[in-house]
Amino acid sequence: MEVLIVSDPAAVAKRCADIVEAQIATMPDSVLGLATGSSPIGLYEELILRYRDHGLSFADVTTFNLDEYIGIPADHSQSYRTFMNETFFQRIDIDLSRTHVPDGMAENPLQVGPAYEKAITQAGGVDLQILGIGSDGHIGFNEPTSSLRSRTRVKTLTRQTLKDNSRFFGPDEFQPKLAVTMGIATILEARRILLIATGEGKAEAVRNTVEGPLSAFVPASALQLHERATVVVDAAAASKLQLREYYQFVSELQDDLVKKHRPSDWISR
Ligand code: F6R
Repeated sequence: MEVLIVSDPAAVAKRCADIVEAQIATMPDSVLGLATGSSPIGLYEELILRYRDHGLSFADVTTFNLDEYIGIPADHSQSYRTFMNETFFQRIDIDLSRTHVPDGMAENPLQVGPAYEKAITQAGGVDLQILGIGSDGHIGFNEPTSSLRSRTRVKTLTRQTLKDNSRFFGPDEFQPKLAVTMGIATILEARRILLIATGEGKAEAVRNTVEGPLSAFVPASALQLHERATVVVDAAAASKLQLREYYQFVSELQDDLVKKHRPSDWISR
């Protein structure tokens, strides 16, 4: 796994935007896997700026979001479809019909997963998957003990996740306890993965992901099985990493190479 440690959330956003921009420059019709939550907001803001000011185009990009709540309609203020439209899609030149979010209102939620998997396969698979991480180590809504072979399906959220996300819901507002989420095996099929974590609240989850044992108890640790997984963290989220200095050393070497306009991808992770 590659760990890039940068100073603060703004630097995380820029670093991740560089990776997304390079992906689109190389392959304008890339398939991006996207996340909601606070972690990728800075990245989306940075990509919007590059679209507005530097001609970065999403016109041929296809997207698949990781997850959606079950039981609130797509146009609900707290649905992940609304989040994506407002935070990102409506502010760039993407064709909305190429953006996919699991259907949280399907008559039979059990059928949503297989249909979503089929759509991903038909689009050619995900080229670059963006991930956040829960304080309990979840990715997507794959809560601790999710099968490492899981596919897109219905999951029940943990009390911790419900508590973490309650800030988005009013005191008397219905907060869904179920979600449809891409599975861990689905996520691992992406050709490249970028996990974003900022703030001290994520430090333990980051340490367990990068340096802990591979375990379904920390779903993000499954990224250890991926050939091209990059974890981009700020200093606070990196604070509990045992080999922090080594990752920093690699990051500095990479920075140096990027500055010299040389490809840095060969540096071993
Ligand atoms: C969101 C998602 C979740 C979040 C995670 C972190 O689509 O899949 O796994 O990435 O809960 O959330 P934030 O970024 O709000 O801390």
